Amino acid sequence: MKLGHLQLNQPLFLAPLSGITNYPFRKLAKMHGCDVVFTEMISAEGLIRKGQNLLKIEKDEHPIFVQLFGSDSEILALASEIAEAYGADGIDINMGCPAEQVVRTGAGADLLRFPKKVEKILLTVRKRVKRILTIKIRSGWDEDINAVEISKIAEQCGIDGLFLHPRTKTQKFRGKANWHIIREVKQAIKIPVIGNGDVNKIELIKKMFDETGCDGVMIGRGALGNPWIFDRKRKLPPTSIEKEETIKNHFSLLLNYEEEIKALKDIKRHIFWYTKGLPYSTAFREKISKIKEVDLLFEEIRSYFTNLNNF
Ligand SMILES: Cc1cc2nc3c(=O)[nH]c(=O)nc-3n(C[C@H](O)[C@H](O)[C@H](O)COP(=O)(O)O)c2cc1C
Repeated sequence: MKLGHLQLNQPLFLAPLSGITNYPFRKLAKMHGCDVVFTEMISAEGLIRKGQNLLKIEKDEHPIFVQLFGSDSEILALASEIAEAYGADGIDINMGCPAEQVVRTGAGADLLRFPKKVEKILLTVRKRVKRILTIKIRSGWDEDINAVEISKIAEQCGIDGLFLHPRTKTQKFRGKANWHIIREVKQAIKIPVIGNGDVNKIELIKKMFDETGCDGVMIGRGALGNPWIFDRKRKLPPTSIEKEETIKNHFSLLLNYEEEIKALKDIKRHIFWYTKGLPYSTAFREKISKIKEVDLLFEEIRSYFTNLNNF
């Protein structure tokens, strides 16, 4: 498929995950075969005020999309220009976030209730974004699903592609993502449609392509503790040696990226995902939760996996 200037073949995208998809996580996803990464959602107003304190793009993570949230077309347009100047290959406007503090301001999924507002935003932003412009939507606000209507409007405004997580705003993360809606949207518009929702195993990537006819697949929660999901050639699950190496690598990336205290906090959260379901992982996680020194944590990781290999 062609997404703006990008020529991609059944690509995989790392979904925007607030508080998670920072540079180390994006880099790890890339190293394992992810084609395009997303930043977490960034407030358009915040980006205008705080600039590079909120957004930093590294040379080795292109192509990268910056996701913005906001409800004012001028502010979104200005923030998009700033994100492009910082190196974004694509700008994505968040039209799916169900969090109350976001929808209360008229941003995120709230926009799905106001198609005219969507049109105004996209016409304004399109004039100012030189690179790729996309939106990420849910299937609708509530049972009155309007993903097809919003998609058609967005296509007419000249966006380059669309990401769809087929749950409604009111549904939040309950139930299953309704992939049938991805198929409906794909059939209704000509621009690329990237499906998203509940792809948490490699096998489900092909299933989503086959069942929906989508042009790309976006993965969020399925990548937590599992960057191997992006490696489609993989036949076997990661060995414990691979897990250990990846955790250490992830920790090193975090240490280079942020303050030690924050890196320690972050890697502990990721270790929870990496070790989910492994023998004695609860005791291991409890033990490391108290560790405040980097060397000690590296040592505990090594010791846990060495023991695991000896079982
Ligand atoms: C912790 C968390 C943070 C998220 N942050 C964002 C975000 O910043 N922007 C966005 O569009 N979606 C966000 N989402 C939604 C995901 O991008 C994705 O649409 C959703 O999780 C469904 O895909 P999945 O089943 O592959 O996780 C978030 C989801 C989670 C669980």
